[in-house]
Amino acid sequence: MIFPRSFLFSAAIATLASTSKAADYGVDCSFPIHSTDSSCGDLLGDRAAVYNEYMDGCRKHWGEKGAKRCNAAEADRLSMSQTQPQSMVNYTETGFKKLKAPPKLWELISNYWETNKDEKKLEVWPMGNIYTNNWAAPTYMVSVENDQLPGGGHGLKDQIWEAARPTIEAWTGMKLQPTSQYGIRVYTEGAILSPHVDRLPLVSSCIINVAQDVDEDWVLEVYDRHDNAVNVTMEPGDMVLYESGSLVHGRPFAMKGRFFANIFIHFEPTGEHLYDDGSEELDDFYPPYLKANSPWLDTWAKQNPSGWRKTSPSAAAVAQPITLKGHTAAASGDIETLERLALDDMKALYARDPNGWTPLHEAARAGHLDVVRLLVEKHNADMNYITNEGKGSSPYFIATQSHSPDHPVSQYFKSLGAVYQGPEL
Ligand SMILES: *[C@@H]1O[C@H](CO)[C@@H](O)[C@H](O)[C@H]1NC(C)=O
Ligand SMILES: *[C@@H]1O[C@H](CO)[C@@H](O)[C@H](O)[C@H]1NC(C)=O
Repeated sequence: MIFPRSFLFSAAIATLASTSKAADYGVDCSFPIHSTDSSCGDLLGDRAAVYNEYMDGCRKHWGEKGAKRCNAAEADRLSMSQTQPQSMVNYTETGFKKLKAPPKLWELISNYWETNKDEKKLEVWPMGNIYTNNWAAPTYMVSVENDQLPGGGHGLKDQIWEAARPTIEAWTGMKLQPTSQYGIRVYTEGAILSPHVDRLPLVSSCIINVAQDVDEDWVLEVYDRHDNAVNVTMEPGDMVLYESGSLVHGRPFAMKGRFFANIFIHFEPTGEHLYDDGSEELDDFYPPYLKANSPWLDTWAKQNPSGWRKTSPSAAAVAQPITLKGHTAAASGDIETLERLALDDMKALYARDPNGWTPLHEAARAGHLDVVRLLVEKHNADMNYITNEGKGSSPYFIATQSHSPDHPVSQYFKSLGAVYQGPEL
């Protein structure tokens, strides 16, 4: 059958309209992004009330001291949304793209979820964190990092990074290195994720929806290159690629339903193009994805006094064989073995595995106070060492995440004034 030309034309328009936005509006309509002055009145209903309830919720939840942190974190979010995007090199035309997760990746993630979805643990948020309204709608984690769960642990994380990397490299045209992986996070009824750009080095990223039970689509809001809001819907198995350091993204409309489970996989460009043979001349201080003379450079330099370091893939590939005897003993609370290692293989007590975990991190995760104390007090293990080359977690954070802030190991780190740092969302 042959369609008249005009029919084809209107069919094309209809398809476009169904996947794109209902109305043109920009930032500061659904939620403050650059400023708390709404730029479109009541177009979306009383969004000011939603926002005020959100911020009041944070302040009430954390009490007087925490309220200041809520306000400071919020000011930080707004200033990052203003300054960071214009400072970043954009590698794609649109900044985001939805597709189906590649089969291998989906298999890894969905198997893990199916096996472990009943083992979710409350996600502990730092005081005053304003990225989600976790005080009103708690979030949970079925962490891919949790090696207490069948299939979980560093091995799974590495497989997930490898399975996701080619898709995002092809999309950005750049060679990428892993920076962070977070999830599977389970949001609950009423959840809002305030629009934000990710902290560097979370640059070239994807979100995968793992499972959901909702009454209506819980939309991901992003902005197109004309700064118009776009709602992106996701089904389980959908993968949204996004330039998370420059593209403002959030879920400002409260979730209606039981749960929504996502995993976030982040990379940063190495500066090398995917299809070039020669390597680029890289600035030796700033990362290749920050624009010269842009306003974020100062902040970045303060946060990274020793400059950007490319983790050479070849260096990782030929990594020294490391002994993980100390890790195993620390994880299982085996003091006897640790004391023996201290005598004849001291290095094992401080060794870092490929993700930068030391035996102390393992002991913190397993919750063995006696091992933690042995390593810190007797063997001077660095209690503030951050995994994943400074981008991951401190032992204190790991103890709190794996157990609770009240757990004796968390309390112990707290009493020593240990650093509390974890990967950002
Ligand atoms: C996005 O979704 C929200 C909530 O469903 C709706 O109010 C808004 O009009 C939508 N915006 C766009 C740009 O489609
Ligand atoms: C990169 O993309 C973001 C989001 O579309 C935009 O706001 C920003 O201005 C772009 N950066 C540059 C340097 O063009």
